[in-house]
Amino acid sequence: MSALSELYKEIALCEDCELARHRTKVVPGEGSEDADILFIGEAPGWHEDQQGRPFVGPAGHFLDELLHSIGLTRDDAYIANVIKCRPPTNRDPLPSEMIACRKWLDRQIELIRPKMIVTLGRYSLAQFFPGSSIGKVHGTARKKDGIIHFAMYHPAAALHQQSLRKTIQEDMLKIPLLLAQAEEVEEVKEEHKPEQLSMF
Ligand code: URA
Repeated sequence: MSALSELYKEIALCEDCELARHRTKVVPGEGSEDADILFIGEAPGWHEDQQGRPFVGPAGHFLDELLHSIGLTRDDAYIANVIKCRPPTNRDPLPSEMIACRKWLDRQIELIRPKMIVTLGRYSLAQFFPGSSIGKVHGTARKKDGIIHFAMYHPAAALHQQSLRKTIQEDMLKIPLLLAQAEEVEEVKEEHKPEQLSMF
């Protein structure tokens, strides 16, 4: 059994926050274990909670479309969330829940060792760059701990706000070039705290 599958057994037993009492299924993540790109969303919704799979509802259909636009399928990438269990009534995750769940995301990153992390939405962005504004940094990349971090709006934002659809589609199209140039993007020192980085 792979190290990631072992990890999922541990996640399925997790009761480190209140969300464990509400879940139908844990949603650890899925995709290629040696994916170059790790997409990280916020938290499972109703559909994900029922199926135990990430991004299988309406936002997921848009994510599939976005992946296809750069010649990828789900099997080429890895898709996970900051929070592994659905918050009741799809409310925003609490800081305590994000702290409790962070260890699982860290272990996933260690095992997958992606070249690029794509944060989907502000909760995911905040895990890596607290205080960054998604409105300012979407479509830009920073290298941290040897991994390119690319910020995007959450796909669900396009469902609520049609005007963001094109922005999200355009941001997605930047990924192949960034990935191709991954080695060349310089690590940014924390003290610089740039709002934007790189060639975009
Ligand atoms: N939204 C997310 O952030 N993650 C999912 O898995 C589904 C919807």
